Amino acid sequence: MASILDRPLRAGILAAADNPLVRRAVTRYGMRLGARRFVAGEGVAQLLTAARAANAEGFSVAATLLGESIHERSETMAITDEYCRLLDAFAEEGYDANVAFKLTHVGLDVDPELAFENASRIVAVAAKNGNTVRMDMEQSRYVDATLETYRRLRAAGAANAGFVLQSYLYRSEDDLTAMLPLGPNVRIVKGAYLEPPEIAHPQKREVDASYLKLAELALSHEGYTAVATHDAKIIEHVERFAAARGLPKQGRFEFQMLYGIATPLARRTLERGYRVRLSIPYGEFWFPYLMRRLAERPANVAFFLKGALSPNLPVTKDRS
Ligand code: FDA
Repeated sequence: MASILDRPLRAGILAAADNPLVRRAVTRYGMRLGARRFVAGEGVAQLLTAARAANAEGFSVAATLLGESIHERSETMAITDEYCRLLDAFAEEGYDANVAFKLTHVGLDVDPELAFENASRIVAVAAKNGNTVRMDMEQSRYVDATLETYRRLRAAGAANAGFVLQSYLYRSEDDLTAMLPLGPNVRIVKGAYLEPPEIAHPQKREVDASYLKLAELALSHEGYTAVATHDAKIIEHVERFAAARGLPKQGRFEFQMLYGIATPLARRTLERGYRVRLSIPYGEFWFPYLMRRLAERPANVAFFLKGALSPNLPVTKDRS
């Protein structure tokens, strides 16, 4: 989340993400522009290398094949197949890794029923392997469908599925309260998209306060909570809150951070005995993901542009 002073810049970066010229320019120069800091690579082999290294350090992993808003039925099925193969590879090769995916990547924009079927397939392979799966939360227009999909999965007996709530949305406290009877597996995040003040807290301090409220609510009830943030103050608060409630350091909650961000904080949290899961993205379609990471911290833009000044940039496939 950018500070309030960064808000216009953040909005500008997120708006630029929808501009075909920006998309073309950024994707043309591939990973060399600095995307590599946030993305393991474009192929599964690079994901597995990054996951292996993270596991060796003691981190759990959540792998994500980058992409969203797929409009071809056959493509959503190929993406689902890839997630299933990945889950099997994790099981066969002994990785401490699960997957997190976006419902629009597996068909939500085509047909909610297709997204449900594809999600069910991924969840079933994970269940067969004794693993878990999480559906990310996307723009606010997808919240109802995502929560409904989670409810349907749970009603179908899938206890290994999880979902995400964004603390910038006013509605999230009610959404969490409604889910509590299920003993939900919920990841709490601040929220990475540009949402209007009619539905989302515009001020960072309100987003942070809402985050703590959601985390405390989730931790006070049955279920599993993934506290996903790089905010050291929130992490310390959650540690104190959990200790005061007598929650063990592992088993009821975990911390989650994004690959390439706040790594020293992730290591310190791990050293204190908590489970820390790194979300590692990979795949060709890294552009929107990268733009969200830049928008969260506009200082990253400078880091990113430094790469653009390097001579002899290799040109990668144009995916605009
Ligand atoms: P905040 O923005 O307050 O940042 C705290 C500190 O972290 C900053 O001061 C800075 O030091 C560091 N930091 C944060 N972002 C950085 C960046 N991009 N580069 C460098 N440093 C940075 N969102 C969503 O809408 N749906 C989802 O499903 C998910 N899923 C998800 C999974 C995981 C594991 C994480 C960690 C995050 C998400 N998010 C997400 C993104 C989330 O909503 C939010 O945008 C980012 O986590 C940034 O917010 P922080 O909680 O880190 O706090």
